[in-house]
Amino acid sequence: MFSFLNDYSEGAHPRILAALQETNLQQEPGYGLDSFSQAAADLLRDVIKQPKAAIHFVSTGTQANLITLSSFLKSYESIIAAEHGHISVHETGALEAAGHKVHALPSQAGKLDPESICDLMAFHKDEHSVRPRVLYISQATEVGTIYNKQELQALRAVCNAHQLYFFLDGARLGNAVVAEGNDADLVDIAGLCDAFYIGGTKNGALLGEAVVIVNPALQDSFRYHLKQRGALMAKGRVIAVQFRELFRDGLYFENARHANAMAQKLAHGIQAHGYAFAQEPQTNQLFPIFPGIVIEKLKKDYESPFQK
Ligand SMILES: Cc1ncc(COP(=O)(O)O)c(C=O)c1O
Repeated sequence: MFSFLNDYSEGAHPRILAALQETNLQQEPGYGLDSFSQAAADLLRDVIKQPKAAIHFVSTGTQANLITLSSFLKSYESIIAAEHGHISVHETGALEAAGHKVHALPSQAGKLDPESICDLMAFHKDEHSVRPRVLYISQATEVGTIYNKQELQALRAVCNAHQLYFFLDGARLGNAVVAEGNDADLVDIAGLCDAFYIGGTKNGALLGEAVVIVNPALQDSFRYHLKQRGALMAKGRVIAVQFRELFRDGLYFENARHANAMAQKLAHGIQAHGYAFAQEPQTNQLFPIFPGIVIEKLKKDYESPFQK
């Protein structure tokens, strides 16, 4: 049975498994101090053209968001996100549990606009309310749309004006950077954000995300935060080996292109049957509008019996 539910229904690209197999018996230090972690981080710094960026590998997107953002914030500081943003609705209140309010702003096609951020900042002028300190977006967004370079630059300008750190959740960054019509590549993103992460789990890795901290003021002591939250993996090499393979010769982009192309194919088929989309498909997330009867039929053929 095929599953159209998500982009992590299968294990990993065969080259990832081969890379893990090849390196399996090589003995290395633990906790991210191995040669694979060094090599993968160097490779990524090279790809994003940020020789001084700090790079850390973690196992999930929620971990990347929680640990990175909470490490940037003081107890009274908060985060701005879209109302449907992943940290607003899909992370079990992880950041709130760490003591940080998440301001959920209205969005258009999943995207935040500078004006609503400025409006929010106008309400947070003094110590009688929390101080918004991070702007969180995801690329691609929760509804599969992408911010273009001009939109990212406009958000950066708002961050500069209001002393906000700019953080980009890149769980699906590969699909965004290779999307047709996209004009913001990894170099642009690294140049605009204080920090971001590059998702591996949803792009062919077995698991893993690469956190990139560009702003030197935010790099200090990050390994302490990782360890305290149980994310400094004794076998951190497992994720690093995968990122080295993904970025060694462009496999990361190839995987994303393939996923987008397959989604386009599906979208064309759905359109040919006369159905519209809640959002114009841009990456590999599709939101077709089907009548209930079609949904029931699709569920019968494609829903896993184990799905909740
Ligand atoms: C944009 C975004 N951020 C974060 C996550 C969380 O990733 P994980 O399920 O690995 O914690 C997801 C997962 O779907 C996501 O789409």
